[in-house]
Amino acid sequence: MKEFTAFLLGEQENISKALQTVTEKMPRSVQEIARYAFLSGGKRLRPVLTLLWYKLLENRNKITHPVLSVYDASIVLEMFHVASLLHDDVLDNAELRRGKTSSHIKFGIRPCLLAGDALLAMGNKQMAEFQNVRLMNIISDALLRTANGEIDEIALAGKIPASPAEYLDVIEGKTAWIIRSACEVGAVMAGAGEEDTAKARNFGLNLGMAFQIVDDALDFSPEEIIGKPAGGDLRERKCTPPVYMYLETLHGQEKEDFIKKFNVIPSPIFEANQKQGMDNTGFSHEELKAINQKIIDAKFPEKTRELAQSYLDKARENIANFTGSYANMLLEAITYVKERKK
Ligand code: FPP
Ligand code: MG
Repeated sequence: MKEFTAFLLGEQENISKALQTVTEKMPRSVQEIARYAFLSGGKRLRPVLTLLWYKLLENRNKITHPVLSVYDASIVLEMFHVASLLHDDVLDNAELRRGKTSSHIKFGIRPCLLAGDALLAMGNKQMAEFQNVRLMNIISDALLRTANGEIDEIALAGKIPASPAEYLDVIEGKTAWIIRSACEVGAVMAGAGEEDTAKARNFGLNLGMAFQIVDDALDFSPEEIIGKPAGGDLRERKCTPPVYMYLETLHGQEKEDFIKKFNVIPSPIFEANQKQGMDNTGFSHEELKAINQKIIDAKFPEKTRELAQSYLDKARENIANFTGSYANMLLEAITYVKERKK
């Protein structure tokens, strides 16, 4: 993983500069929130994927701009990602993100929702500067699919998915589409042909699916590592693979009780639930703790990671015909997603 990690580190400065420049172009009222959200320690995976596909496929048909560079294009999907997290932390009542106070706790819900909106708008404006309809279509689709994935996830909250496809559709929308689009933007900016562009987007889609599956496994890792309380998905009534695997071990009355408590719609007043000792769910704090421990003891997070493998294999197929250091780095990106610990 040496080359990919070195590239990731080496490009941080250029990516940060592009983020800083775009932040300065935004209305003053949202700059502080945008800066806080950008600086909260993300890995910049999405811009790096855009850059790697760009460098792998760069040719004389590449898209150019008199002032802006590929870095300015590469941060658009990062802006969407950060905007989605600003909104997501409000929806999930999350108090911590990457070990820091969530933006909506620090700045208030309304300013953060609007800062998220401003980031989405600014991302669109920045991409429009390249005057390329194809790029605009790619990022609009990413926005639509992401919003749709989140809406479907909320509709499924507290329910047991009827089939794995229901869960897979949600993660494809809420996570994989932005990663797919990050790769596709790189290919289109590079001036790649149809076949290679399809490879870029399929690579991204599959890597994105694996990324979210691994994320759902990591949700049961200690707070010191993931920077947010362990077991958040169960608390947020999301039936992710580790939760589903636990459900499958239950029978009879125990299973019925679990489903009933999982299905309790929390009061919109967070504090009211906490006063009743209900951790914003139908489960008590102690019950949640005990279930989390059982999930960890049964190694369901590890088993969940194994589900990511078929997607990682498909991502690998999409770079099988490329050679050179950028192709190697994309291969290493697959290993990075597979092995990541936070
Ligand atoms: C984090 O998931 C959230 C997402 C991956 C997507 C959130 C999307 C929206 C709020 C829709 C609106 C956004 C756009 C771009 C139109 P998680 O809650 O499972 O992960 P977490 O534990 O890191 O919060
Ligand atoms: Mg969340």
